[in-house]
Amino acid sequence: MTTNSKLKTWVEDWAKICQPDKIHWCDGSEEENQRLLNLMVGTGMAIKLDEKKRPNSYYFQSDPSDVARVENRTFICSAKQEDAGPTNNWMAPAEMKKILTGMFTGSMRGRTMYVIPFSMGPLGSKIAHIGVQITDSPYVVANMRIMTRMGKAVLDILGDDDFVPCLHSVGAPLEPGQKDVKWPCAPIEKKYISHFPDTNEIWSYGSGYGGNALLGKKCFALRIASVMAKRQGWLAEHMLILGITNPKGVKKYFAAAFPSACGKTNLAMLIPSIPGWKIETVGDDIAWMKFGDDGRLYAINPEAGFFGVAPFTSMETNPNAMLSCRANSIFTNTALTPDGDIWWEGIGTPVPDGSITWTNEVWDPVNCKVAAHPNARFTAPAKQCPVIDENWENPKGVPISAFLFGGRRPGTVPLVYQSFDWNHGVFLGSIVGSEVTAAAIGLKAGVRRDPFAMLPFCGYHMGDYFGHWITVGRTAAVPENLPKIFNVNWFRKGPDNKFLWPGYGDNIRVLKWIFERLEGSADVVETPIGWVPGTKAVDVSGLPDMDGKMEKILEVDPREWLIECELISEHQHMFGDRLPSEMKNEYEKLKARLLKAVLK
Ligand code: OXD
Ligand code: MN
Repeated sequence: MTTNSKLKTWVEDWAKICQPDKIHWCDGSEEENQRLLNLMVGTGMAIKLDEKKRPNSYYFQSDPSDVARVENRTFICSAKQEDAGPTNNWMAPAEMKKILTGMFTGSMRGRTMYVIPFSMGPLGSKIAHIGVQITDSPYVVANMRIMTRMGKAVLDILGDDDFVPCLHSVGAPLEPGQKDVKWPCAPIEKKYISHFPDTNEIWSYGSGYGGNALLGKKCFALRIASVMAKRQGWLAEHMLILGITNPKGVKKYFAAAFPSACGKTNLAMLIPSIPGWKIETVGDDIAWMKFGDDGRLYAINPEAGFFGVAPFTSMETNPNAMLSCRANSIFTNTALTPDGDIWWEGIGTPVPDGSITWTNEVWDPVNCKVAAHPNARFTAPAKQCPVIDENWENPKGVPISAFLFGGRRPGTVPLVYQSFDWNHGVFLGSIVGSEVTAAAIGLKAGVRRDPFAMLPFCGYHMGDYFGHWITVGRTAAVPENLPKIFNVNWFRKGPDNKFLWPGYGDNIRVLKWIFERLEGSADVVETPIGWVPGTKAVDVSGLPDMDGKMEKILEVDPREWLIECELISEHQHMFGDRLPSEMKNEYEKLKARLLKAVLK
């Protein structure tokens, strides 16, 4: 227990409202973990995987209605609607709290209320922050134990200090004698993932899945932390962090922001295809960064595990992710094989006969579309990653030399280019986008803008967020120590609709160019959009079929970019008068450079 009076009162008050049968303060011990996992096996919520094939690992199937983050049920409840901005759903805090207090009343009847003290970031790091989650889901406790540092040690460090209160219920109370279902949750229209940025609070109701329920991740480490970071002058970003070492043993750290499902986990754990280079992983999803005394930006990974998308992860595409979840892991909505292991589409082997799908049917190639849900996940301890960086838990963080932005862009955007300066780099972050195909998602085909890959995760007005990035650059004590900013695009296609660049382990070739550019030795060409490698500057040694391709991969066509400018202008428009003048200027300067190039 704790002497922290805010924490004690908070737990007591919510216990009165939620009316759980029991309250359990999580100590984070292995004994507690095993007890909860056994409990879930006993109730039928979990299946223990074969101990030889997948030691100490468990399999879960969610309710078919509860399979992913629910952006349309996610709210930023700032006091003023305009502070949530055009990219967030908003409701007045008092109104939301009234609705949710009603829903939380009695919501934990028949269940245990777990209290989870957790640290986002290494215990005691100056960049880390502490949260406490109340939940009625033992599945959440088991996942939070992998994804965060959790338990008694956190309470000891917290002492009487402040914490971020994170309230969660699956919203499925049990009446006396009522049998529980395998995956309790509330229907979609009753789910609320609510954030109160003025008071640093999270109230999440009705979902037991991923980012809706593991509140340390997207809710705290991005939405609430982005607001804290703006207030306090630091950065909370949707970025992987990797260490890159050249053949001479010189090491640098890069942080990269790509929209969801653009390969952040793959890049963070890349196995280089060229000799002598090494990539090591600090984090695959989130970076918190503060300036050090030397004026450099130092980053920590606030998480302690990977909550990775399973389908299409394989020993081919990402062996380090596969090895990270070889034991002590949780699998949700994958398929289950008859010999007690997991399977998913793209794992590299055919689905074994007699496998059970994520909807708990026997796999049947005629009647089942997929065996694993496309958003099936593994939850794996980061320390099990074979290439985890030696500094991944360094409380000081790691010094960042470069920021990379990128998305899926089949046209227009070259493989890599560098911004002319910080504000131009912020502009590149602000225009990140990924192509959506009308057929696939039923949306208008075209580029979906996802500024800084933060569209679903920024806890305040996106225009003010761009302003914060500009301020970070303007107020840096040692401007030359700021990270340099690049944009990458692995997804450019040729006229045959095939990818021009091999991707995966060959992306090291692009990282190598960036590394050399930071050292001042890479060949560059100035174009209207930024500095692009010369056609011989990216190392393609040993790559087959590259003859004449680099010109196309690196091409900057000013006419195409003028069309892109129209789209950028539309995008900028949505931020109204909260768009910083610097961003408008960057747009005007880009357009002028393009027009000059076209008229030449
Ligand atoms: C994630 C996401 O789950 O970005 O990491 O959606
Ligand atoms: Mn993510």
